[in-house]
Amino acid sequence: MAQVLIAPSILSADFARLGDEVRAIDAAGADLIHVDVMDGHFVPNITIGPMVVKALKPHTTKPMDVHLMITPVDPFVDAYVDAGAAIITFHPEAGPHPHRTIQAIKRAGAKAGMSLNPGTPIAAIEELLEDLDLVLVMSVNPGFGGQKFIDSQLRKIEALRKRIDATRKDIILEVDGGVTAANAARVIGAGATALVAGTAVFGDGPDMYAKNIAKLRGAGAA
Ligand code: DX5
Ligand code: ZN
Repeated sequence: MAQVLIAPSILSADFARLGDEVRAIDAAGADLIHVDVMDGHFVPNITIGPMVVKALKPHTTKPMDVHLMITPVDPFVDAYVDAGAAIITFHPEAGPHPHRTIQAIKRAGAKAGMSLNPGTPIAAIEELLEDLDLVLVMSVNPGFGGQKFIDSQLRKIEALRKRIDATRKDIILEVDGGVTAANAARVIGAGATALVAGTAVFGDGPDMYAKNIAKLRGAGAA
């Protein structure tokens, strides 16, 4: 089985030193750089815009995995891709025409992902699954790092694993929120192929980034 991808979420990084932090997790073995974009409307928090993604891009060679918790999405797709986003993931609730948004992301040259909140069923993306490069299962309610993993989402991950396998397409199943070294084996066992982790990577300071990333990646081998 291919190694699980580790995507540290910079939401938990030191925002006063974001460039250094991105360089540090790149060097510590991150596979993806997970960038949480929040607009204070779709979720009750505000983070960063395309300019910050553009400023961070030169500090890493790893793909920028941009998670848009914003509405609307379409007017900003080109700006995030031009800023350096390799993957753009959005939520089905963000607008009325998700297929058109996927088309816009791909036309702009990025991979397209959709994210399911804990209360959003897989059915919300049923008609779109084969058009996606990534599905992101939220195991917390979006808006903040450091929350507790919502165990009920393990069933959704298992069901989504079966649906993705049935497509025979190479679609990343990413899980985001409250993922730690303690629950990573269960998350990977349920079918995740990528783990987002903010607190579990950044929580103990830069000296622990490589160890924390290795612990998450190694959970799959246990
Ligand atoms: C929450 C974000 C997550 C969060 C993960 O809305 O989408 O990516 O930053 O942080 P932890 O791993 O601390 O839950
Ligand atoms: Zn996220």
